[in-house]
Amino acid sequence: MLEIKELHVAIDGKPILKGLTLTVHKGEVHAIMGPNGAGKSTLAKVLAGDPSYEILSGEILFEGQNILELTPEERSHLGLFMSFQYPVEIPGITNFQFLHAAKNARLKAQGKPLHSEEVFDAILDEKMVEIDVRREFKARDLNEGFSGGEKKRNEILQMAVLEPKLAILDETDSGLDIDAMRIVSRGVNCLTHAENALILITHYQRLLDYIRPGFVHVVIDGRIVQSGGPELALELEEKGYDWLVKE
Ligand SMILES: Nc1ncnc2c1ncn2[C@@H]1O[C@H](COP(=O)(O)OP(=O)(O)O)[C@@H](O)[C@H]1O
Ligand SMILES: [Mg+2]
Repeated sequence: MLEIKELHVAIDGKPILKGLTLTVHKGEVHAIMGPNGAGKSTLAKVLAGDPSYEILSGEILFEGQNILELTPEERSHLGLFMSFQYPVEIPGITNFQFLHAAKNARLKAQGKPLHSEEVFDAILDEKMVEIDVRREFKARDLNEGFSGGEKKRNEILQMAVLEPKLAILDETDSGLDIDAMRIVSRGVNCLTHAENALILITHYQRLLDYIRPGFVHVVIDGRIVQSGGPELALELEEKGYDWLVKE
């Protein structure tokens, strides 16, 4: 589904990713871990199509198609979901209106019939029950100032509504409490089935107690230096990253 080949990326002339290679197949959950500054968020932003990064060399293929030339919106319509992709605060628009518009934009790009408000409302209700989001969330204004936990809930709700083929969640928020972790894992568990895949970027061993990745990768200095199964995450919790840096 996703093939990243020997990716080299710089910002302001400074190399950040230095030959990163990663393959993700349908149905897989991958965790990307690594020390601060290793290039994890850079990878997520490059996948999303953030124009501030310069691609020096390498390829990113999504379902066989080179996406490096595509805009963030085009990538989203292909079924890529990035956790920070949508502006969270838009004055005068409710969460319901925003999600409805985002879903219909996706359906339109896919050449599928749009959802009326009534149809979408029923779908949204179902998703909200699945991931345990309170109903009042629908009517909340996007400009209302969501707390950290509410932003996280909303992000997962967006993901559930858009049903991406590949979701990349960058857990940059330091304040992921147990409650937020449950929401993330519920959302992820209602997403992952045979047809889609997830890349979870996280420092948090504890999140991995809720979401069991089949594959764990460690990024150090812009490349993947170690890959393994879930046991690698446990090993990292015990030993930290130093042993890998030395190797
Ligand atoms: N916009 C930017 N301008 C300059 N340097 C950046 C920028 N974004 C990231 N970097 C640098 O790139 C490196 C990798 O950052 P990042 O991808 O955020 O790491 P991680 O998510 O693994 O902590 C760091 O050294 C960081 O300082
Ligand atoms: Mg980061």
